[in-house]
Amino acid sequence: MTLAVQELDPKRHDRAGFDCGVEVLNRYLSRLAAQHRAKGIATTFVLIDLKQPAQIQGYYALSAATIELERLTDADRKGLPDYPIPAVRIGRLAGSLVARGQGVGALLLQNAIKRILLARGTLGVYAVVVEAKDDPVEAFYRKYGFRRSDSQSRQLYLPLGAG
Ligand SMILES: CC(C)(COP(=O)(O)OP(=O)(O)OC[C@H]1O[C@@H](n2cnc3c(N)ncnc32)[C@H](O)[C@@H]1OP(=O)(O)O)[C@@H](O)C(=O)NCCC(=O)NCCS
Repeated sequence: MTLAVQELDPKRHDRAGFDCGVEVLNRYLSRLAAQHRAKGIATTFVLIDLKQPAQIQGYYALSAATIELERLTDADRKGLPDYPIPAVRIGRLAGSLVARGQGVGALLLQNAIKRILLARGTLGVYAVVVEAKDDPVEAFYRKYGFRRSDSQSRQLYLPLGAG
């Protein structure tokens, strides 16, 4: 198996064949992701095995975002300017149901963070933000250091640190 992450290309990748077990995320990939790319709303990346390059094993979508200063912890807020802080949102992230629990989620998240760190060479990004839809998803992101931006919401953020 030779895994690769590529920008979604509807001509090459079988969007309709992807099933992560969450209908709204399947539908996003098959019906909205390409439109969102064209409109500059989000850019989607897919995980594939180069031996079966049409078959999508997982995906994530990135968008520019901001996070209000007040939503950061006191410690994180120190030394930051007093206006909305630049961030990148992982709007969606999902792995194929058949490979659940085999590291696909971790691989996608690591790849997304690597890509976001590279983007810092072009524009300022303080943190990665995600909206965790339920407790298990929140537990997944917390494992990697994401923290709540406020106790009332499931928005989580991960400061990228210096560098
Ligand atoms: C959330 C999701 C991406 C996790 O992917 P996965 O491939 O099952 O996770 P991985 O195998 O990479 O697990 C990585 C680590 O997270 C942990 N983890 C995974 N799911 C977890 C959960 N529900 N609760 C707590 N920890 C979890 C794993 O135990 C593993 O830890 P380890 O390295 O110490 O063993 C996957 O469950 C998924 O696609 N769900 C459906 C779509 C969805 O809800 N997406 C999120 C919101 S957009």
